[in-house]
Amino acid sequence: MKTVSLGNTGIQVPVLAMGAASLGSIYHPVSQQQANETVSAALENGVNYFDVAPYYGLTKAEAALGKALQGVPRHQYTLATKVGRYGDSLWDFSREATLRSIDESLSRLGTDYIDVIQCHDIEYGDIPQLLDEALPVLRELKANGVVRNIGITGYQLDRLEQVACEQKVDTVMAYCTWTLQDRRLGNVARRLNQAGIGVLNASPLSMGLLTRGGAPQWHPAHQSVQQVCREVSALCDRKGVNISQVALQFALTTAAEHGIATTVIGTASAENMLDNVRWSDRPLDDELLAQIDALMAPVLNIGWDILPGNGGKAQK
Ligand SMILES: NC(=O)c1ccc[n+]([C@@H]2O[C@H](COP(=O)([O-])OP(=O)(O)OC[C@H]3O[C@@H](n4cnc5c(N)ncnc54)[C@H](OP(=O)(O)O)[C@@H]3O)[C@@H](O)[C@H]2O)c1
Repeated sequence: MKTVSLGNTGIQVPVLAMGAASLGSIYHPVSQQQANETVSAALENGVNYFDVAPYYGLTKAEAALGKALQGVPRHQYTLATKVGRYGDSLWDFSREATLRSIDESLSRLGTDYIDVIQCHDIEYGDIPQLLDEALPVLRELKANGVVRNIGITGYQLDRLEQVACEQKVDTVMAYCTWTLQDRRLGNVARRLNQAGIGVLNASPLSMGLLTRGGAPQWHPAHQSVQQVCREVSALCDRKGVNISQVALQFALTTAAEHGIATTVIGTASAENMLDNVRWSDRPLDDELLAQIDALMAPVLNIGWDILPGNGGKAQK
């Protein structure tokens, strides 16, 4: 797997990274055996950057990832986790909660340092508390070597860009905004990258929207968006291609030119991980992409901040 620099962090990140939220059984029930097999398939193919959070499966994903990584030499993988979000509607960027959360993450992940610690979904939290408590305490931990880099994550790109640049964070992770259906991250990512900030594009399948099975019941996209994505999936099927293949190839082939270092895909299936690795080497079918773009046009860039869907987990 090709690797690139993650901003100025010094981390060489594979262009395809693994999101471990799935290991928290947020899409379907996942056993430890499945978690182990998926993580092994990733590592064997150079996908050695893992992103997780205490929130995913309410600590289950971190615990499962930690067990799956047991025995793997620590220098062979990069670990990113998060602080600040602890439930569907529960944020806490206080100093105490941040310190406690990191201690617990270290224990679940079986390590004594975290390569990238990220403040989770900042736009829903208390921003003054983020600025006055969470980020300062993370800088102290960075000075001690407990965390190596500090990042922020979220969906609202203007807020992410503003905080990232003002606070000079090391990384930004945005999700569902650089996909076949939403291209809003591109310009923001270019500017962040120029500022030396490592950009991670999470959820290239838009949290299941761009899969044959369609979005999970909790997905926040509006029904009209989901309907068009089903039509795009049917078009891909008629062409003999899985929509997830095109979605992943789109994200990967367009990442570098937009300043996106890596694409973070989530799966709890070794088979799907191997497909993702295989697909990452194949060229994108430009003719098919043009047909998809034409179908997608009415809902392009229509995120749930613009046209709210069925509530979603992130609503307060
Ligand atoms: N706010 C944030 O910080 C934030 C938000 C969203 C995501 N993230 C990060 O980004 C990661 C990825 O996001 P995500 O997992 O939510 O969404 P995603 O990667 O867009 O999609 C995951 C879904 O796609 C399926 N999938 C994966 N590979 C597939 C394949 N080859 N064929 C068919 N289906 C496939 C998975 O099912 P299977 O398990 O069955 O493969 C799962 O249902 C997360 O794990 C997390 O680390 C962060």
